[in-house]
Amino acid sequence: MKIVTIVGARPQFIKAAPVSRILRQMHTEVLVHTGQHYDDNMSAVFFAELGLPQPDVNLGVGSAPHGAQTGAMLAGIEQVLLAEKPDWTLVYGDTNSTLAGALAAAKLHIPVAHVEAGLRSFNRAMPEEVNRVLTDHIADLLFCPSQTAVDNLVHEGITRGVYLVGDVMADALAYAAERAATHSDILQRLGLTEKGFLLATVHRAENTDDPVRLRAILDAFAALDEPIVFPVHPRTRARIEALNLKSKIQNPKSIAPVGYLDMVRLEQAARMILTDSGGIQKEAYWLGVPCVTLRDETEWVETVQAGWNVLAGAETERIVMAACHFAPPTAHPPLYGDGQSADKIALRLTSSA
Ligand code: UD1
Ligand code: UDP
Repeated sequence: MKIVTIVGARPQFIKAAPVSRILRQMHTEVLVHTGQHYDDNMSAVFFAELGLPQPDVNLGVGSAPHGAQTGAMLAGIEQVLLAEKPDWTLVYGDTNSTLAGALAAAKLHIPVAHVEAGLRSFNRAMPEEVNRVLTDHIADLLFCPSQTAVDNLVHEGITRGVYLVGDVMADALAYAAERAATHSDILQRLGLTEKGFLLATVHRAENTDDPVRLRAILDAFAALDEPIVFPVHPRTRARIEALNLKSKIQNPKSIAPVGYLDMVRLEQAARMILTDSGGIQKEAYWLGVPCVTLRDETEWVETVQAGWNVLAGAETERIVMAACHFAPPTAHPPLYGDGQSADKIALRLTSSA
């Protein structure tokens, strides 16, 4: 069986790694990198650290407004699919690379499998929400990380080809957690101590592209007494520079984006995580680190229901209060599967061919 896998953005390299490892034991995988993320610390580092094979094709699409970026991917992926004639096209998550991969395949009548299907924020202003809804409606196999995701699909009339398999990011984290603890020296490099700092990330368009929200978040970071480590996404770095907000990131230790092992090490050691990332909310939960989410809603509602994640929006005072006072309960039920999702996905793809 031949599978064309489409990746392009940082979290997709992490999600694809455990699935790719298993698929390649049984099948032929052609890995297509759209080029959506291209800086070494947003792309190459993950291939090196996660044992993900080098892409067979890199479309080199790069950064552009949504239409131009998605359109260029669509045209490039179509050429690859026409040449490769795969049995499946495999897409991950909710980026423009996800939508382009799914759409190109669906138009060529090549079956589409979507990993991380059924997630919803119910906020159509998010580009990711549009990508998710469209991808799910043209997918043939929908791999859901949670029962909530399955239910969301049912509400949209999607019941065929839906499988609850858990979250592949748990597989990826299990692979990296021990290696991070032994291989990463980032705590020493940054002069940090276990549980002696907060870890922050910000990259969501709703926060970076709204100067009021971005300022309010950075004000909260600056108001906190504890050291904050802030690996800054290039999108956020660009907005901070354009808005002349650099002085606000002196108090947090702002650093370039880090590789996955360093990131997991930082997450393991942080007293608390402040983030608007989807993946990092889950990693915080799995690692037992309290999380303050810098958004007004989340797709990962179970982490909030379990009491380990709190929504603080982009309001300075709410973020500061949460960072100082939020305390999760002792109960920590397992969420999003058993870390064996990649096996379940590979098995289902094989039996559905
Ligand atoms: C994308 C995804 C988002 C995901 C995130 C993961 C979409 C619509 N958004 O957002 O869902 O959570 O990736 O990180 O697909 N840039 C660089 N170097 C790079 C990549 C980006 O400098 O290697 C800068 C460019 O200025 C670019 C900006 O970051 O315009 C945004 O990049 P883009 O891929 O369009 O969206 P993300 O914000 O990264
Ligand atoms: N990540 C990383 N280095 C960083 C920031 C994030 O390795 O500097 C990892 C993080 O641990 C998680 C994934 O990237 O596995 C999340 O990606 P991101 O926050 O960019 O996107 P999202 O999950 O919100 O789509």
